[in-house]
Amino acid sequence: MEKFYLTTAIDYVNGAPHIGHAYEKILTDIIARHYRQRCDDVYFLTGTDEHGIKIQKTAAAQGITPKELCDENAQKFKNAWNALDIDYNKFIRTTDDYHEKIVQKIFDKLLKQGDIYKHSYEGLYCSGCECFLNAKDLTEDGLCPDHLKKPEVVKEENYFFKLTKYKDAIIKHIKEHPGFIVPEFRANEVINQLEDIQDISVSRAKSNVQWGIDVLGDEEQSIYVWIDALSNYITALGYDNENPSEMMNKYWPADVQVIGKDILKFHSIYWPAFLMALDLPLPKHIFAHGWITIDESKMSKSLGNVISPTSVLESFNLEHPDAFRYYMATSAPCGRDGNYSDDDFKEKVNAHLANSMGNLLNRTLSMLVKYFDGEVKAEFKCENPLAKKALGTVQIVKNHFDNFEIAEAGQEIISLVDAANKYVQDNAPWTLAKEEKMTECGQVLVNVLDIMCIIASLIYPYCPNIASDMAKQLSFDLTTKLDELTADNIKVGKLISKEDIKPVFLRVDSELADKSAKK
Ligand code: MSP
Repeated sequence: MEKFYLTTAIDYVNGAPHIGHAYEKILTDIIARHYRQRCDDVYFLTGTDEHGIKIQKTAAAQGITPKELCDENAQKFKNAWNALDIDYNKFIRTTDDYHEKIVQKIFDKLLKQGDIYKHSYEGLYCSGCECFLNAKDLTEDGLCPDHLKKPEVVKEENYFFKLTKYKDAIIKHIKEHPGFIVPEFRANEVINQLEDIQDISVSRAKSNVQWGIDVLGDEEQSIYVWIDALSNYITALGYDNENPSEMMNKYWPADVQVIGKDILKFHSIYWPAFLMALDLPLPKHIFAHGWITIDESKMSKSLGNVISPTSVLESFNLEHPDAFRYYMATSAPCGRDGNYSDDDFKEKVNAHLANSMGNLLNRTLSMLVKYFDGEVKAEFKCENPLAKKALGTVQIVKNHFDNFEIAEAGQEIISLVDAANKYVQDNAPWTLAKEEKMTECGQVLVNVLDIMCIIASLIYPYCPNIASDMAKQLSFDLTTKLDELTADNIKVGKLISKEDIKPVFLRVDSELADKSAKK
């Protein structure tokens, strides 16, 4: 694998980030970190989507300029991603100068080559979706099914993109590339939507929407959000239809574009059509994740149940974001909806990260110190009955990642932790020590520690801080590539002293966790 380019959706900045936005960035960060364990050149793009009527209206309501609103909220997104250890390579804002210029050039090229034309139009516009809706897609009461708001009747002369011209080519591409849309069960949905697709409006009258990129040579029109927003994936790489860009040559097409299921249509129909019109290859995979609900209800401002990701870290006094990352990433199988609840969060991370994984390391290292003063003797290294399962798990995890099954891969890692716990229980090193079978006792402990190194490596994308604490105590090099992992990781000699053993994850809500976070 020479390179891996992955992107997230870019978030609207009419509000602050919530845990739905965070879910996507966490999933993508985990994918990025996993592929960095397999490939030297991973490029991870995220950012914010800053134009359109929604932002214009929110700014007006707050009595500030749209740019002020964007600056303020884009910073909140950056701060949140920083708090969640989202290790992106680039953050694009659609108000960045280079982006705006290239979007104008893209629009101009499509206009000149006849893919964009001017047309008078009357339609139903939902500013929540930032798109026109068909009457048949509305609820019985005539509301947008996603935003439960009545769309506005808009009568304008707009520029239109000839989406219909690309319909057959897109259907063909989807049918010939079964992995293009992930999960595959969504591909049929997209094909059905393609059946009655029409040309789409790609500009709005300036008299209605001022907060947008100007159409070159037409002062009356501004470029409408989707052609602007979707282009971010290539403008971020320095795409210019007239000049080649080194980054484009290196990274495009994207290996995976991670988005929510609500914007799959834009990414699997509009975006491929724009790319075909620009004569660019299509991304390899569009991965549509499901939605996160809160206590099984849709998150919404009106219900007052919107949760910010940083508030979760604060309310549980978490030292780092690992538990939240792990919980979110494993909240739903690939492409399905997930749920957040405080109680479930506590229960799951305490069970998996503190009790199963953290305690296993802690107990094993403590026994190594108690019985052998922390020293690994040469005779402790032996054939490891856990090796097959552990190395098999590495393969299974890789396969899951290749299908963007992040929760499923997480489950495999925990099942390896469970197997290691069972091995300790079955072999009872404390009994072996009591019976003075010291070599066997040492062998059991070192077998587990060797596997803990593999576990640290596999859990790293989800829990980078915990993994690095584990690796430190195991003297294991966490930068080892997955393909180079073996079951022989612990070196002969002194491994650890009593004072260097520390729990890698304290139970959420425990007194200790409380004290340590307050320090
Ligand atoms: N700006 C557009 C995307 C343009 S991409 C070229 C947009 N923005 S958004 O802020 O509304 O959503 C950003 C991403 O967050 C989307 O992928 C969306 O699906 C995701 N989520 C927003 N709310 C969500 C949940 N409650 N749960 C999971 N993801 C959700 O759409």
